[in-house]
Amino acid sequence: MKDYEFKKSFELLARVNAVIPGGIQGPRNPIFFKYGSYPVFMKRGLGSHTWDVDGNEYIDYMCGFGALVLGINHPKVEEAARKQSELGNCFSIPQEQYLLLAEYLNRNIPIAQWVLYGKNGSDVTTQATRIARIATGKKGIILARGAYHGFHYWCAEGGLGIPPEYQSHIYYVAYNDLEDLEEMVSKHSGDLAGIMLTPLKHDFAKDQELPAPGYFEGVRKICDREGMLFLMDDVRCGFRLKFEGSHEYFKADPDLVCFGKAISNGYPLSVLAGKKTLMDAAKKAMFTATHFFSAVPLAAAIACMEEIKQSGAIEKVYRHGMMLKDGIESQAQSHGVKIHYTSHPAMPFLTFEDDATFEKARFFGGEAAGRGIILHPLHNWFVSAAHEESDIRKTLEVTDQCFKRLKEKFGG
Ligand SMILES: Cc1ncc(COP(=O)(O)O)c(C=O)c1O
Repeated sequence: MKDYEFKKSFELLARVNAVIPGGIQGPRNPIFFKYGSYPVFMKRGLGSHTWDVDGNEYIDYMCGFGALVLGINHPKVEEAARKQSELGNCFSIPQEQYLLLAEYLNRNIPIAQWVLYGKNGSDVTTQATRIARIATGKKGIILARGAYHGFHYWCAEGGLGIPPEYQSHIYYVAYNDLEDLEEMVSKHSGDLAGIMLTPLKHDFAKDQELPAPGYFEGVRKICDREGMLFLMDDVRCGFRLKFEGSHEYFKADPDLVCFGKAISNGYPLSVLAGKKTLMDAAKKAMFTATHFFSAVPLAAAIACMEEIKQSGAIEKVYRHGMMLKDGIESQAQSHGVKIHYTSHPAMPFLTFEDDATFEKARFFGGEAAGRGIILHPLHNWFVSAAHEESDIRKTLEVTDQCFKRLKEKFGG
């Protein structure tokens, strides 16, 4: 198998650095990969496959960072989007799709007793905290340390250019640790509006963790006792574990749930869904923007969700996710390489023992990319319903070679 070359990708990278600060923003930047061993620009895609600007073909396990649960250019989603596009996308008065999607969510997703639309996950996580503050009349928001909820000031990492007051009512606890939560709650008792958690812990560059048995029940009890709200950020996990929401998969009972990414298979849309009791608070918080009403993503979302529901996509993702997990774990064992393969099989993450700087992970990812498999060394991957058994088999052929090369270079 021939290693790929990325000549055109890196020519374009040199140009983008001159006109976009930082070049490629966020975890798509080649500095997060083994520099030079990944493509930087893609040209096209279909299903689970993508082709870069140099003409190399890949099986892609990043799936638009989680948006492409059905794969690129899914025919039913594209058909719905095209039909809507022919009628028009951006109007000065809403189109029927605005209502139809809300009714669809209301019929199909029990937590969606009402909904609000945004574009990015960040829009709805931010709005969830505002609604919690309005509903409770309190300010404090508890988050799990290391969790990502978007780039808005209240939760943005880094802090440069953000006055500390913007984050002054945000408190951090350890995920899966009810004692830590109790301690934080007692410290700020009387001024806590809510806690926002992800359905599982999928922090950047960390082994992932499922919620411990009893964790979400404990969180619910504490919220009820303290008079604060339970906010679930399902932006990344949503529509991959259970159609009705990952909180139902883990039997959690949140008050508000944030969806995004996979809801519309790549069209820009996020949704905040909530319990009826919070509808009045939601009415009081202004939430509008020019593109929140775009009809094409709304139409795409209905088609996407209906396809997920009808096609057994979630079961297929689980099956193929398990096949990938079993294959990688047994390869690691047979090559004598110590790994951690964590999270739910639909959105797994691979790390290596004795790899604090992620050198092994970057090497492994680079070797895989050079043979046509896109895996991120620092971010969880995604299995989509477009990944077929043949893709997983091909992937495992490549990962077997990657383990061999890794063992030669680093030993165990
Ligand atoms: C759990 C979670 N919440 C919120 C966000 C922010 O979503 P967006 O990037 O669409 O603003 C992300 C994005 O990765 C996420 O994973």
